[in-house]
Amino acid sequence: MPAITLVGAQWGDEGKGKATDLVGGRVDYVVRYQGGNNAGHTVVIGDQKYALHLLPSGILSPDVVPVIANGVVIDPGVLFEELNGLNKRGVDTSRLLISANAHLIMPYHRALDKVSERFLGKGRIGTTGRGIGPTYADKISRAGVRVQDMFDTGILRKKLELALNDKNQVLTKVYNRRGLELEPILEEYLGYAELLRPFVADTSLVLNRALDEGKTVYLEGSQGTLLDIDHGTYPFVTSSSPTSGGACAGSGIGPTRITKVVGILKAYTTRVGSGPFPTELHDEWGEWLRTQGHEYGVTTGRNRRCGWFDAPIARYATRVNGITDFFLTKLDVLSGLERVPVCVGYDVDGTRHDEIPMTQTDFHHAVPVYEHFDGWDDDITGARSFEDLPKNAQAYVRALEELSGAPISAIGVGPGRDQTLELRSLV
Ligand code: IMP
Repeated sequence: MPAITLVGAQWGDEGKGKATDLVGGRVDYVVRYQGGNNAGHTVVIGDQKYALHLLPSGILSPDVVPVIANGVVIDPGVLFEELNGLNKRGVDTSRLLISANAHLIMPYHRALDKVSERFLGKGRIGTTGRGIGPTYADKISRAGVRVQDMFDTGILRKKLELALNDKNQVLTKVYNRRGLELEPILEEYLGYAELLRPFVADTSLVLNRALDEGKTVYLEGSQGTLLDIDHGTYPFVTSSSPTSGGACAGSGIGPTRITKVVGILKAYTTRVGSGPFPTELHDEWGEWLRTQGHEYGVTTGRNRRCGWFDAPIARYATRVNGITDFFLTKLDVLSGLERVPVCVGYDVDGTRHDEIPMTQTDFHHAVPVYEHFDGWDDDITGARSFEDLPKNAQAYVRALEELSGAPISAIGVGPGRDQTLELRSLV
């Protein structure tokens, strides 16, 4: 039975929480496979708004098993803060499963994330400061601490000793900061161990067995394609693989089991942090999009950078992820525009490019070439089918579909659970 992957098709914040919530009742497992509490998913249910950072959005659907798989990095303090917050609001979180192989964000990772950004000055990446990059760096250098290490005090102490020998040299001698002491960290993490134990499982085994039994598994990507460590706007990226290939490595599910890849695509473009963004608007229209679309980060509260839809980016996302369906979000935000600009290519130092340029230098020089589509005035937040949309909105959707290279199977017209037009089933 199917494993379905959901990926952000732009720079994240496309509205993935809403998409996952839409299919929540129709899938059995919702899995996070990369990233950590740098993510921010907002889900609105009735008059309740939930902002999730680390937990899979499936945690809000009572019939779903939410899974934090091996590719995620976990800050246990944040995990329990989020779980306790949901418990207080009456959400049952006992079904959660956490991979024994997931890596842990340690206090020195957070410290190094912040201090290295400060030292980069104008060259900073604009990270969320949650310790994501340094944790993945340790994972790749084989110096990381995993969930399972918390259940063996001897191992945990040994790993911490080795890590602190190194990190404290860097913190004190390179960055002129105070070093961290081992005992308080050990005590804190051993405290988390007992709380974590009931959730820990061999999640790859659980998920593969579930697929064998005909269950549906939904792999929920965080961030977005252009923030991918390999396929994004490096170095202005996150340190994991949000693209669909990352879903396999990050969950222990083979690629042959994935039947659909759903790309979440905002009807315009946003980005937080530094890095190239050809359609970014520095004028009143950027502010207009930010206000209309409430484009303020869920995780950091930072203003999101805003710009028009960029078709080469959507096509690129289709290509590197093998997207089979798009979920177009926030179409309602564009209501009221006389004409809607869409970037269909770039001018790079006098040369026309229809696709994202191969090099970072060229991408930094890319000036959007726009096509303009007729806008619509009507409020579309009450639309419940494609035919309810004004003709110009329908034409805009069809044009994006054509330009993006995959069918648009769902359209978001507002933040609520019922404000989604599903043209084809996403499951
Ligand atoms: P990090 O993931 O905290 O290391 O940050 C690296 C880059 O990814 C920065 O530009 C962040 O703003 C961006 N980023 C990380 N998580 C998200 C997200 O969930 N949405 C949008 N941007 C993100």
